[in-house]
Amino acid sequence: MLEPRERLIVALDVASVAKAEALVVRLGASVCFYKIGYQLAFAGGLSFAQALADAGNQVFIDMKLHDIGNSVARGVESIARMGATFLTVHAYPQTMHAAVEGRAGSRLRILAVTVLTSYDDSDLAAAGYDFTVPELVAERAGQARDIGVDGLVCSAEEASELRPLIRPGMVLVTPGIRPAGADAGDQKRVMTPGAAIKAGADYLVVGRPIVAAPDPKVAAEAIVAEIAAAQDKRG
Ligand code: C5P
Repeated sequence: MLEPRERLIVALDVASVAKAEALVVRLGASVCFYKIGYQLAFAGGLSFAQALADAGNQVFIDMKLHDIGNSVARGVESIARMGATFLTVHAYPQTMHAAVEGRAGSRLRILAVTVLTSYDDSDLAAAGYDFTVPELVAERAGQARDIGVDGLVCSAEEASELRPLIRPGMVLVTPGIRPAGADAGDQKRVMTPGAAIKAGADYLVVGRPIVAAPDPKVAAEAIVAEIAAAQDKRG
């Protein structure tokens, strides 16, 4: 059973390593898991990710990889050597097979992104798919399970529907988390930290509600407290 604090992943969605460093110092021991996406990764953030991992933090590299199998597998090997904990890939079978091969023997866990949450049925049709979003999410979740992927990124609303489709031990990692009263920003389907844990999420990814808070540490600690209360009820 994870400690409540271990379930919170803070998205370091900031423009520079200096800003990320300042935030990590400010958050101190209240946070031990950080996500690095495109914005920071391409502004020197991959060396910073390595430093975070070397300092004993868990690191989630959110690169949503998708390429020919050999390129994915070799890229994943490099990310595994950084000591990262999670890496995202798009849920295409070739890509998932290659990523699982590339992480063999390391502690890196592969998370598949089934369908981007910015997509609706008309976006899928425009991209040439003859599936609705729920159909494609379910199809790809089943493929991720069969290929040996370690978890899925999904909205908290999808967590309870996806749980029966995946292997025990696969993790569900959910963005779109907003404490009660927080600004949703561009997220359309949001859930509070407590509701997401009750719905079966294993890890919560939280960006702006912490990064843009007047006191990020207080905001993070409030979310951890909410996770703890929900976890007690979940048992
Ligand atoms: O600021 P906010 O809490 O909305 O940040 C959520 C983080 O999770 C961002 O880094 C965003 O890129 C990421 N994410 C997401 N939805 C997905 C996958 C990742 O919001 N489906």
